[in-house]
Amino acid sequence: MNKVLIATEKPFAAAARDRIVGILKENGLEPVVLEKYASKQELLNAVKDVAAIIIRSDVIDSEVMDAAPNLKTVVRAGAGFDNVDCAAATERNICVMNTPGQNSNAVAELVMGMMVYAVRNKFNGASGTELMGKTLGIHAYGNVGRNVARIAKGFGMEISAFDAFCPKEVIEKDGIKALDSAADLYKNCQVVSLHIPATAETKKSINYDLLKSMPKNAMLVNSARKEVIHEEDLLKILAERPDFKYITDICPDRHEEFMKFESQYFTTPKKMGAQTAEANNNAGIAAANQIVKFLATGEAPFRVNK
Ligand code: 3PG
Repeated sequence: MNKVLIATEKPFAAAARDRIVGILKENGLEPVVLEKYASKQELLNAVKDVAAIIIRSDVIDSEVMDAAPNLKTVVRAGAGFDNVDCAAATERNICVMNTPGQNSNAVAELVMGMMVYAVRNKFNGASGTELMGKTLGIHAYGNVGRNVARIAKGFGMEISAFDAFCPKEVIEKDGIKALDSAADLYKNCQVVSLHIPATAETKKSINYDLLKSMPKNAMLVNSARKEVIHEEDLLKILAERPDFKYITDICPDRHEEFMKFESQYFTTPKKMGAQTAEANNNAGIAAANQIVKFLATGEAPFRVNK
C-alpha cells in the first residue's frame, strides 16, 4: 500500500487533517501524519518509504528527496512553492503540484484585518484613519490579489493593480485600474498590498526607490513572502519616514531591528493568512485528491515543475 505523508510543521485544523486522512484511506492509500515536528531529522526519518507528501511551508529540498527513494509526488497544500526545490524534483522524476486559489480568501481577509488594525493604531484607543477613499495598490493580481480587491471595494478604497504577467484587460474587467509598472503603483498608492511570489527575480525587489516614492502616510502590507522585501532599505525608510507603516504576516529576518519602529511596524508571530478551518479544508482536500489522482492515473493538475 502506498504511504502518503502529511508533513506539517504548522498543522492543519484537526477536522481538515481528518478529512485528508479519510480521503487517502478511502482510496487505498496509507496516511502517515507528522505534525509540529521540531527538527529536519524527524522529517528525514518520516519520508523513508513514502510515495507522496502533502506539505504547507515545509521545506522539501534534495536531502529530503534523497531520503525518500519511493517518492513520486509532493503536493504543496497552498499557493507558493518556493519551499520545494523544483529542479531537484525534476531531476529525480518527482512531480510537484500546488493547490492554487484554495486559501486565497483566507489570506485576503487577513490582509484587510491587518490594514484596519494598522490605521486604527493597533486598537490602542488613539484616533486613527479610515480606509474609505484611500488609494490601494495591489502588487500582483493573482488569486489573493483579486480577493483583496473584491473586499477592498466594499471598504470604498480606490484600487489599482500592477501585474507583470496578467493582461490589463483582466484587471480592468474587475473595475480595477491597471497600471504599467511597479514604479507607477508605488508612486500612486498610499497602501500597497504585496502578492508577488518569491523568485530569483523578485527577491529583495521591494527596495528603497519604490518605497520612498509612496505618498504620505504610506503603508506596505505583506502577506506574500519576506524574501521579496529589501529589509535594509525598508528599515531605512521607516527611520526616514515616521509616516510609513510596515504590516506583515511573515516575520522579517531583522525583526529585532524592526521593533525599534514599534508604532510603524506589526508582524504576526507566525504566518497565519491561510490558517483558517475553511482554507485548511479547501487546500488539504484538494491536495489529497490530487495525490489520489496522480498515483492512480499519472494525471497532475497544477503541476509546477517540468
Ligand atoms: C501559500 O503560499 O499558500 C501561503 O503562503 C500559505 O502558507 P501556509 O500553508 O504555510 O500557511
